[in-house]
Amino acid sequence: MSSLLVDDIGELVTNEPGGEGGPLGIRRGVALLVEDGRVAWIGPSRDAPAADRRLDARGAAVLPGFVDSHAHLVFAGDRAAEFAARMAGQPYTGGGIRTTVGATRAATDDELRATVRRLRGEAMRQGTTTMEIKSGYGLTVADEARSLAIAAEISEETTFLGAHVVPAEYADRPDDYVGLVCGPMLAAAAPYARWIDVFCERGAFDVDHARAILACGQAVGLGVRVHANQLGPGPGVQLGVELGAASVDHCTHLTDADVDALASPRVDGGHTTVATLLPGAEFSTRSPYPDARRLLDAGVTVALATDCNPGSSYTSSMPFCVALAVREMRMTPAEAVWAATAGGARALRRDDIGRLGVGARADLIVLDAPSHLHLAYRPGVPLIRQVLRNGVLQ
Ligand code: NIG
Ligand code: FE
Repeated sequence: MSSLLVDDIGELVTNEPGGEGGPLGIRRGVALLVEDGRVAWIGPSRDAPAADRRLDARGAAVLPGFVDSHAHLVFAGDRAAEFAARMAGQPYTGGGIRTTVGATRAATDDELRATVRRLRGEAMRQGTTTMEIKSGYGLTVADEARSLAIAAEISEETTFLGAHVVPAEYADRPDDYVGLVCGPMLAAAAPYARWIDVFCERGAFDVDHARAILACGQAVGLGVRVHANQLGPGPGVQLGVELGAASVDHCTHLTDADVDALASPRVDGGHTTVATLLPGAEFSTRSPYPDARRLLDAGVTVALATDCNPGSSYTSSMPFCVALAVREMRMTPAEAVWAATAGGARALRRDDIGRLGVGARADLIVLDAPSHLHLAYRPGVPLIRQVLRNGVLQ
């Protein structure tokens, strides 16, 4: 059994009851003992037990590692020209997804694997210790299955998104594509996936197709997540709530009824549906940001994630999303940090990550700063000094 003492922590964000800062549960002047990849003890530095090794935080802030619950890392090529056209005034429609599908189908497994690993490494260096990874740029049985197999090599949080868009070859027979997704594609994908997701939006999948696909996934034991209400108002959020989704993601265009549905208590093994906001997408599509304040004031559980993908949000940076959420979405720094850690864990229905309490996984970051406030206060500055995942320095 190997042990590591993280000592001289100026500010420890625990996301546990007690401590300062409301839900952040901040403790000061403490040490944290890691044993076998888990948090084994937290207490005043002077009472710290002996350990095999010591990591000196030198008075800095220590936080749970970021939980990025929404990312599309399995793809080839990029769409920088599409981004430039948007910045020159073109709207984002999602139509570019098919461009990435073409490039992804043409790529080798090793090319896809290299991109996934590069982006995962990039995210890790910015403090992300858990990252959900979706398929959705293959859209054939073989390409969806290999996308998920590659994703599953490095993440236990993998999501089958065969229903991202209807691929060009099925454009005039979407019912047949839904049949393919629910039949052979799901069968090939399910062994590598924990979740199923649908892009429920005008131009992608309507509510009947989305409900059918999500129900097929549930029937083989996959948990539900939905891309909902990104480009305009629609039925995605309420469909997600109806099906007991772990999360509905984007939530940019919400009616009062959508907010009420997310805020009203529901029972699904004690869980509710989280609203995951993806401000990198609004940044990169120059769209109005979702109204986080309205959701928080209604009592909805909010998570933040990157949506890392080559079209609408090519960032792997959770600190960037925290800063955007604070500056542009009227979240307090504390709310944004909670949403990027504990919120992401709720969106993945995990209680072993996103918090630092005894028994939790020792996934943590040491900042080059004395307080979590600096993540939004010093935007664009590389503030992640050290990352521990399962207690191991990355
Ligand atoms: O979450 N909206 C659907 N899917 C992605 C965008 C994919 C793309 O443009 O390539 C999203 O924003
Ligand atoms: Fe997405």
